[in-house]
Amino acid sequence: MDVREAFLAFFESKNHTRVASSPLVPDDATLLFTNAGMVPFKSIFTGDIPAPSNPRATSSQTCLRAGGKHNDLENVGHTARHHTFFEMLGNFSFGDYFKEEAIAHAWEFITQVMKLPVDKLWVTVHESDDEAEEMWKKHISADRIMRLGDKDNFWQMGDTGPCGPCSEIFVDQGAEHFNGPEDYMGGDGDRFLEIWNLVFMQYERNAKGELKPLPKPSIDTGMGLERAVAVLEGVRSNYDSTLFMPIIRKVEALIGKPYDYASGASYRVIADHIRTVTFLLAQGTNFSNEGRGYVLRRILRRAVRHGYLLGFSKPFMFEIADTVSELMGKQYPYIVEKLSVLKEQIMLEEERFFKTIASGIELFNEELKNTKETFSGEVAFKLYDTFGFPLDLTEDMLKEKNLALDTGTFETLMKEQRIRAKAAWKGSGDTAVEGDFKTLLETFGINTFIGYAYTKAPVKIQALLGENFERVEQLHTHQKGWV
Ligand code: ALA
Repeated sequence: MDVREAFLAFFESKNHTRVASSPLVPDDATLLFTNAGMVPFKSIFTGDIPAPSNPRATSSQTCLRAGGKHNDLENVGHTARHHTFFEMLGNFSFGDYFKEEAIAHAWEFITQVMKLPVDKLWVTVHESDDEAEEMWKKHISADRIMRLGDKDNFWQMGDTGPCGPCSEIFVDQGAEHFNGPEDYMGGDGDRFLEIWNLVFMQYERNAKGELKPLPKPSIDTGMGLERAVAVLEGVRSNYDSTLFMPIIRKVEALIGKPYDYASGASYRVIADHIRTVTFLLAQGTNFSNEGRGYVLRRILRRAVRHGYLLGFSKPFMFEIADTVSELMGKQYPYIVEKLSVLKEQIMLEEERFFKTIASGIELFNEELKNTKETFSGEVAFKLYDTFGFPLDLTEDMLKEKNLALDTGTFETLMKEQRIRAKAAWKGSGDTAVEGDFKTLLETFGINTFIGYAYTKAPVKIQALLGENFERVEQLHTHQKGWV
């Protein structure tokens, strides 16, 4: 079954308008990336723009969760179900139908179209939501309904924006392959796979954290396409499905070593990350040292490190982009159009990192010998500064060894480097490093840099400096200075 097409056609038959996927970089300053199917509709939910003439929509939205409130980067490769890039199938009601119909539609699709066996299904509702529980009882027996708190059953797009209690549908994938301590219904294990989240959108959270009611209660749902396909194909992990296996097979062919699930995390990380890299580049985000381009660079370098672990010593990711294009080019023709250009971009970026990766890993391994619990922040900084290892890559390597990192020292060194860079840019030499920035650092301590996750945040201005780094009380119009 073509699940994407079946889903969209099903909701069209329920009078929804089919809407094309929006870009991964949203037209929304509060978000780094489109992290859910509802993002393109945010302003309709909040009432800032009027609902379309048909208040029902359905889409398969490309999403990226690598930074900000919904960040799955660290889980990728280690769980059966997390991705940085994925497609979210959704149906939306802008002030039209609400809980009852949303639940009925979801149940019909799952049981009549996907034909999932009812005895494998579970649902959760928010602990305060008696109404949703009563509605579910019309479809599923009461002992298959669990009430959970805000952590599991209150969904919000980001720190601000539309939100509401939600209800999730789970598939029990059986105890055969899953018997970890978290493999119980409501736990964090992979046995009970959440496939669909129905959000009963009722509030908008503002920057102060307050909830105000939306103009009209609305519906936002999200079903992960990759999970739905894996469940239908009866495989235990998204990566074993037809959406990912051809990519894994390509990696196998390039390196000449067979993939096996138990020791194959590196293959899975590569399979996930090549999709993200391909889509971001095809949509116009380029490798860079800041912002979204740095997320892209971090993801590519993380994949290259896993390739290095498998035995690759020269660029390989760019060749796997071909497979992504073969798998997804029909649905997303811009991948095919941009393929040769983006392969070149990937290859150059890989070449850059392959120049330093071996020396970086050697330094890392040397330092491991001196590490008991906490890895040196100085070495992490050197890995970053000299060898191009993003901090989260070093953290990822440490996670595999169950070691912590001295992030305080790393941050201090980063801060000092930024001050040096500013001073060098000013052309004013060492005096500036020793001057007021240093005093400020001593007075106010280190600021946490949150720019990779947020583009807006409430801040307190601690001090003002004039053009020559002298402390001032005011800066006048047209006067240059530092805030
Ligand atoms: N917006 C909801 C989610 O992402 C459906 O889970």
